[in-house]
Amino acid sequence: MKIKRNSTCGSLNIEDAGKTVKLSGWVENYRDHGGIIFIDLYDRWGITQIVFDPAVSGKASHEIAGSMRSQYVISVQGEVRKRPEGSENTKLSTGFIEVYASELEVLNESKTPPFDVYHASVVNEELRLKYRYLDLKNPKLQKSMIFRSDLLNTIRNYFYKNNFIEVETPILTKSTPEGARDYLVPSRVNPAKFFALPQSPQLFKQMLMTAGYDKYIQIARCFRDEDLRADRQPEFTQVDLEMSFVEREDIISTVEGLFKEIYETKLRKNLALPLPRITYDEAMLKYGCDAPDLRFGLEIVELSDVFQKTEFAVFKGALASNGVVRGINLKGLGTQLTRKDLDYMTDFVKPFRGKGVAWIRMNDDGPQSPIIKFFTEEESSALYKKMNAEVGDVLIFLADKEKIVCSCLAELRKFFGKKCSLYTENDLSLLWIVDFPMFGSNDKGKPEVLHHPFTSPKPEDMEKLDADIYSIKTNAYDIVLNGHEVGGGSIRIHNSAIQRKIFEIIGIDKESGERQFGYLLEALDYGTPPHGGLALGLDRLVMLLLGLDSIRDVIAFPKTQKATCMLTNAPSEVSSEQLEELFIETVNIE
Ligand code: AMO
Ligand code: AMP
Repeated sequence: MKIKRNSTCGSLNIEDAGKTVKLSGWVENYRDHGGIIFIDLYDRWGITQIVFDPAVSGKASHEIAGSMRSQYVISVQGEVRKRPEGSENTKLSTGFIEVYASELEVLNESKTPPFDVYHASVVNEELRLKYRYLDLKNPKLQKSMIFRSDLLNTIRNYFYKNNFIEVETPILTKSTPEGARDYLVPSRVNPAKFFALPQSPQLFKQMLMTAGYDKYIQIARCFRDEDLRADRQPEFTQVDLEMSFVEREDIISTVEGLFKEIYETKLRKNLALPLPRITYDEAMLKYGCDAPDLRFGLEIVELSDVFQKTEFAVFKGALASNGVVRGINLKGLGTQLTRKDLDYMTDFVKPFRGKGVAWIRMNDDGPQSPIIKFFTEEESSALYKKMNAEVGDVLIFLADKEKIVCSCLAELRKFFGKKCSLYTENDLSLLWIVDFPMFGSNDKGKPEVLHHPFTSPKPEDMEKLDADIYSIKTNAYDIVLNGHEVGGGSIRIHNSAIQRKIFEIIGIDKESGERQFGYLLEALDYGTPPHGGLALGLDRLVMLLLGLDSIRDVIAFPKTQKATCMLTNAPSEVSSEQLEELFIETVNIE
């Protein structure tokens, strides 16, 4: 490089007028205005207009400037000048100046990019991911990456300030169950044996507590082979923490302190503490899910009591088979919702196993509904009273098994909240969900844990382990931001007998418990203190704090919905030699 930069493309302003500077960067835009060539030169810090006037730059430089194309890499030397009046760009920090180039050096050329890299917004995402190194130049993505980096810095500082110690735990390890499938890695030197990539550092951080490393924190990579969604990636980052000799409130207040700092320093917003809390049971009843978005109301109302004696076959049938009838008052949305919108609800709930959605529109001239004819006077008036129905409202109902009613109404609630703009992009709703049940039942009716199996039942519920397991509550807590779970944790079991008991209840027999988790059970017997912790999903947190819809927009090199990397084409076949070395035979899956 002959011309070595001494400034950046985002730093010059009117006070620099008259100085000679050297800049390096990429050509974003090229314009020839009657012999004078203008180039927008950009780098990580911004964009600066470079002028090639043959009278200043000399003929040779001017000619080379004329051959510039998008994404060429160049260095220029020139004089900073105030832009002529009327040609300023007030949107740019460098918009009042331009650099009159006297020298130009081309450092590299570029093929024509497959999309407009600086402004790309509506190009095919697969193409963007294939050329991610170009896509990452987009200012929006760059803003996300810089925000993420700043946020990590704030988070680390917060924990360091509070005497946490950062410890790295293994990536090549044994299965750490968090409810997903493991990614496995074969071991060459131990034929037919496999490592699992960690779904989280859960068991290592617990053993760090045994080791006395109270106040552990790690920015940890986690790997989960699960169905992907807009807020899930197979490889993601957790802010993982664990503390000893603590109770639920200690973890909650540590995390609340972190959020306060994030809100104040990163968002310039105040955060009132303590954060609101609702119990798991209340969340399921009022919002149908354990990660409710409280930027808007639309609470679910229990109506089974109103319809105890109903003759309306749909409701009667559901109640007779131990189901429930619940509804939502779409308050004041009558004028916004068309008949088509209401009929569409039936299709909308199908993927969530809903069979139909009944509705009543509260018109000026009385209620309108396909089902009202089935209700008695008494039922209608009790219904209106319980739902606080007024002219202008739309009441919607579902009758089915409780799980189905909850999930359909939760989805409908989210759908109408968004469709009817019941919140703005700037609104943030942060809250805790507490008092989770220890066990739910899986599709086969067998007990399964709601969090991971290392979560401790509440001390007062320990005795129920031998009897009424479904009524056991835990000291687990999730932190929810705008309807997404951004973190979760619990007070842990620190007694091996209780840990064994939990394994037994969820069907991990003694032998497989020892095989899979023997090392943890043993550690619990060597003076493990009472402990608890939590993990935040960093990618999700960045996505939500920036008001973005896709987790891929906050990860430099994300995977697609099918868990592939478009850039490197991973996962891909490997050579037969590699497979042989690993003692692996692949079957033909065509
Ligand atoms: P959990 O499984 O709830 O808890 O994970 C903690 C947080 O990580 C985020 N998260 C994800 N983000 C992106 N893609 C994924 N596939 C994904 N899965 C989870 C979520 C979630 O709240 N070991 C426990 C924590 C503990 O008990 O301390 C754990 O991993 O935001
Ligand atoms: P049907 O008797 O199937 O014609 O349904 C009568 C009305 O009840 C229609 O408006 C359906 O959308 C609605 N409906 C059907 N199944 C359910 C259900 N499980 N819960 C609530 N409403 C339903």
